Amino acid sequence: MRHVEISGKRLRLREVTVDDVDALHAVYGDPTATEHLPFDPRTREEVEEVVAEALRAAEAEPRLLYVFAVTEPESSGAIGVARLHIEADHPHSAEIGLGLRPDHWGRGMGTDLIRLTLLFGFKHLRLHRIWGARSPANTAAQLAMLVAGMVEEGRIRHHVRARGVWRDSIVHSALEDEWEGHRET
Ligand SMILES: CC(C)(COP(=O)(O)OP(=O)(O)OC[C@H]1O[C@@H](n2cnc3c(N)ncnc32)[C@H](O)[C@@H]1OP(=O)(O)O)[C@@H](O)C(=O)NCCC(=O)NCCS
Repeated sequence: MRHVEISGKRLRLREVTVDDVDALHAVYGDPTATEHLPFDPRTREEVEEVVAEALRAAEAEPRLLYVFAVTEPESSGAIGVARLHIEADHPHSAEIGLGLRPDHWGRGMGTDLIRLTLLFGFKHLRLHRIWGARSPANTAAQLAMLVAGMVEEGRIRHHVRARGVWRDSIVHSALEDEWEGHRET
């Protein structure tokens, strides 16, 4: 497996491993962390499958999916997860998704995490466009994406079905040529 690792001042992204299942479950299985995500809190078994899919994807050629464990620089334990999914039909473009354990929220780490993921996508993968979709009610994600340089692009009506109802998504994006001013990580 090609091993990807990228470090910023406060965070590090490294390839997810089977040892990260519990740490990822602390995000994907947490009702607070998943409140605005388009799925119910995941079971540990479902998170095992997420990790298994990430490991399979890491072997694929071309590689379209990167799933990173998010750690602090001097620690190996994951405090969050970041995904970057390249569109097979539009390989200049990728969707990102991220989540931090709630006890790390509110200290700028989410903004740093988005910056670091953009740095990886633009500098290492040479992507041209990176986008993310959020719930209209997800103010923390809105502010973090805006501060990291991802402009609001528009609304996809009834984009997802979550908790038994249709939900719109707000799309944010960053373009390679706009991103230079937001490179600080
Ligand atoms: C989105 C997420 C990563 C943000 O992480 P974070 O570390 O709390 O974000 P930051 O500390 O960088 O905060 C970003 C901005 O949002 C603000 N903010 C944070 N939480 C907030 C909240 N609950 N309500 C309103 N504003 C909030 C911060 O004040 C900051 O604004 P500022 O730069 O003007 O001060 C985190 O909330 C998370 O993991 N959520 C669960 C998963 C999720 O929703 N992922 C995004 C899917 S699109």
